[in-house]
Amino acid sequence: MRKAIIAGNWKMNQDSKDADHLFHELQNLDKGNAEVIVFPPFIYLDRFINLSSKHIRIGAQNCSQFSSGAYTGEISGRMLRSLGVDYVLIGHSERRQFFGETTQILKDKINIALEEKLIPIFCCGEPIIIRDNGTYIKFVSEQIMDSIGQLTPDKMAKLVIAYEPIWAIGTGVNASADQAQEMHLAIRDLINSRWGEDISDKLRILYGGSLKASNALELFNMQDIDGGLIGGASLNAEEFKQIIEIANESI
Ligand code: PGA
Repeated sequence: MRKAIIAGNWKMNQDSKDADHLFHELQNLDKGNAEVIVFPPFIYLDRFINLSSKHIRIGAQNCSQFSSGAYTGEISGRMLRSLGVDYVLIGHSERRQFFGETTQILKDKINIALEEKLIPIFCCGEPIIIRDNGTYIKFVSEQIMDSIGQLTPDKMAKLVIAYEPIWAIGTGVNASADQAQEMHLAIRDLINSRWGEDISDKLRILYGGSLKASNALELFNMQDIDGGLIGGASLNAEEFKQIIEIANESI
């Protein structure tokens, strides 16, 4: 039995007042058996950690690939850990696309995160052209092996993976339940062949990409989908809570 994760990625949304309002609306949520994580922008982390109840855990959307030093504008894994952050997103397609994050950078970030005892949620997913030409499983498998293939079993056991097809992110078009399940199973098989059954059985694989209350049930009913990484719909407290409820009924 894998414990479901419902994660809200706020991205670069919400001014200070709106962020407080949204967080306040989430404070009374009923997480049931699921693990609920909110990923607000960096500048709100400190106060949300102080406000956060035991129902909500806090994650960061990014961390530096360097441990400390002269890197103006960067936030280190150690800073995050020292605030009480538990999770960090690594390899989100927006970071790869707009901020040039390469495989080497992602490897460094994963190592830093693990050193600081942050749990990385490693994001992977193919662009539409790769989906259309049919090589999506090979593409995602390479993304995974290139960035995390070197991890020892004890480190790999700490990771969470999020499959987020780029063509589904923010488009309103989600992967169908069958498409998502096909990829999640392929990822689990890959992890099994590299690290063995115990790790692959326990690994949580989240789906992300236009996940909302109206499609959560069919996705969460799939055997290898262990929760969601939710962008747009996580900015609406009521919808986010509904998705948590659906996860509790179906995962
Ligand atoms: P979306 O974003 O739910 O708005 O498609 C998901 C993500 O990028 O994590």
